[in-house]
Amino acid sequence: MNRTLIVYASRHGTTSEYAKKMLQLLDGNVDLCFLNEREISMPELSEYNTIVIGGSIHYGKNSKLVINFTKHNLELLKTKRLGLFVTSFFDGDKALEQLNNAYPKELLERAVVSDFFDGELLYPKMNFWERLVAKAVLKAEETTPIISKSKITNFVDRLNDYHHEI
Ligand SMILES: Cc1cc2nc3c(=O)[nH]c(=O)nc-3n(C[C@H](O)[C@H](O)[C@H](O)COP(=O)(O)O)c2cc1C
Repeated sequence: MNRTLIVYASRHGTTSEYAKKMLQLLDGNVDLCFLNEREISMPELSEYNTIVIGGSIHYGKNSKLVINFTKHNLELLKTKRLGLFVTSFFDGDKALEQLNNAYPKELLERAVVSDFFDGELLYPKMNFWERLVAKAVLKAEETTPIISKSKITNFVDRLNDYHHEI
């Protein structure tokens, strides 16, 4: 039986939405692990054959929690079936560049699927500085919730199909 762990971090909830959607769509037994600043009891990674990792891009970089998670578990992660994603405001080449910097090269090369998903700018949830940066740097007004369903479906299908091929 395929066992999947979705490990993710999220500031304002958008990456959480993607992780929860994947929880519903992935085949087999699927667990969620939300990374936060507090001490968390990390599930035993060796019990999972598939690991999905998700984080959001801020100031061009993936969440520190996700970066640390991949760094500390690099060797073990190399032995797993992997799905890697980021949530970002930018699209196209810029988003691809951010995705390529968000995870170690050796994990991106081994991943069954890797992709970037549409981010959201949720001004009411931002602090003063985040609001300032979002307006000045990203030059964008609040975006309406836009969880990109077709991209999630494609991501999940790749993991589910790959599993069936084994
Ligand atoms: C302060 C700030 C900086 C951001 N910087 C970037 C960035 O450099 N590149 C990008 O593509 N998106 C950027 N974003 C957009 C976030 O990736 C987007 O809001 C995402 O949905 C956040 O997901 P989360 O709520 O799961 O953390 C930024 C957002 C904020 C508020």
